[in-house]
Amino acid sequence: MIEDAAQAIDATYKGKPLGSLGHMAAFSFHETKNLSSGEGGLLVVNDARFQRRAEILWEKGTNRAAFRRGDVDKYCWIDTGSSFLPSDITAAMLCAQLESVADVTRTRSELWDRYHEGLKDFAGTRGLKLASLPAYRFTANGHLFYVVCSSMAERDAYLDHLREHEIYAVFHYLALHQSPYYRQLTGDDVTTPFLPNAERFASCLLRLPMYASLTEEAQQRTIKTFLSTPRHGVTSVVALAGMENF
Ligand SMILES: Cc1ncc(COP(=O)(O)O)c(C=O)c1O
Repeated sequence: MIEDAAQAIDATYKGKPLGSLGHMAAFSFHETKNLSSGEGGLLVVNDARFQRRAEILWEKGTNRAAFRRGDVDKYCWIDTGSSFLPSDITAAMLCAQLESVADVTRTRSELWDRYHEGLKDFAGTRGLKLASLPAYRFTANGHLFYVVCSSMAERDAYLDHLREHEIYAVFHYLALHQSPYYRQLTGDDVTTPFLPNAERFASCLLRLPMYASLTEEAQQRTIKTFLSTPRHGVTSVVALAGMENF
């Protein structure tokens, strides 16, 4: 099992670090993540059976890592592989952030708490759902803070209002099964598969600015501006199977 831990750096689930649950895990250091080296990521190999091959694929298909350790007296190509290594400059930039990961997590978690506190009453009166933390034992990393609106039109009204005040909030994603490429593969039949929750969140989810250097003052301005958004039309909450917690 390969765990997609792209957003999960420094978070835990039931006492275990995310990234330790599967045979392997992949973390992302894309610019949108808590730690960033621009592009790139981290492969965690939790099962010793896969470690040797992983380092060979990583080192362009050679056993250079074993050579560096002094396990072999020369290195050569022994498998397929590619140039997956980061440059020294990229690695140095990332290394400094890894040393500060606890600070990054703490800062983002404080931002997350302030958004929640600042918006919860308003959300109640408007029928908006806020990002919530699950009841089971875990620690989060403040990766993102989102609001779920009742419709795309309502979501876009909040986005537009924030943008009019030069605050750049965003929708989160487009549903993959509705992408031109997937539709091309499936003969443009948009009705299959019907994935109502993926479609609902693609339409209704809004993400507020979240980054470690976001100041409290700028965040309070975002909250205040969000709260000043005029009520949008008549809203109705669409209840979908299995999404009772949203
Ligand atoms: C859940 C999840 N998986 C995978 C990825 C892909 O990460 P990368 O762009 O570093 O390949 C992302 C990035 O947005 C993600 O959020």
